[in-house]
Amino acid sequence: MAMSRTFSACASILFALAAMAAEPAKPLGIGRAATEQDIAVADITVLPDGAGLPAGRASAKDGAPVYLAKCAACHGDKGQGLGDFPALVGGRDSLATGKPLLTVGSYWPTATTLFDYIRRAMPYQAAGELSDGEVYALTAWILAANGIIRKDEILDRSRLARVRMPNRDGFHTGHPSLPPGPAAN
Ligand code: HEC
Repeated sequence: MAMSRTFSACASILFALAAMAAEPAKPLGIGRAATEQDIAVADITVLPDGAGLPAGRASAKDGAPVYLAKCAACHGDKGQGLGDFPALVGGRDSLATGKPLLTVGSYWPTATTLFDYIRRAMPYQAAGELSDGEVYALTAWILAANGIIRKDEILDRSRLARVRMPNRDGFHTGHPSLPPGPAAN
């Protein structure tokens, strides 16, 4: 009797497993297929060569009020950093010294990455709230504050892809999406 109970328990487990294996993968009745709109919202990567940059144009002048309203509380009104919040401006020529100051201006090799980073990650407490125009404006403000572009220069996707960062050649990479970059701004 004990034997046959064990046998029938095993048999029903095996049967259940076989049924699961035979069952085609069915949706669980939750969620839905991603729409093109869902994918477009998440597909925001901008590559170093500028591929993926959206339409839009703005200058550092456009960026100044947005920066003061949405960024200065943490990064300082001049981008100098406050407390533990990182500086975005300065540090040029400090990398090879005993006190390197790593900022967008001193360290980052491509300006297009700045656009990508701000759009996906800032402001820290409300990432994703900025329009593409605001992101161009803030990118221009940070680049101008670092003396990399002029304050009145209009950034759009083609100009941004051509901005040459001071530390452009400070990284060793054979990545194919990293173009040699122009010789000067
Ligand atoms: C609430 C504070 C806060 C606010 C507001 C904020 N940031 Fe940040 N930001 C941070 C912190 C913290 C980091 C570092 C994040 C990390 O390393 O993961 C950071 C990092 C950055 C960096 C990268 C710096 C580097 O060299 O690694 C950039 C660029 C930046 N922020 C731009 C902005 C801009 C533009 C705004 C305004 C739209 C903004 N931030 C608003 C807190 C803030």
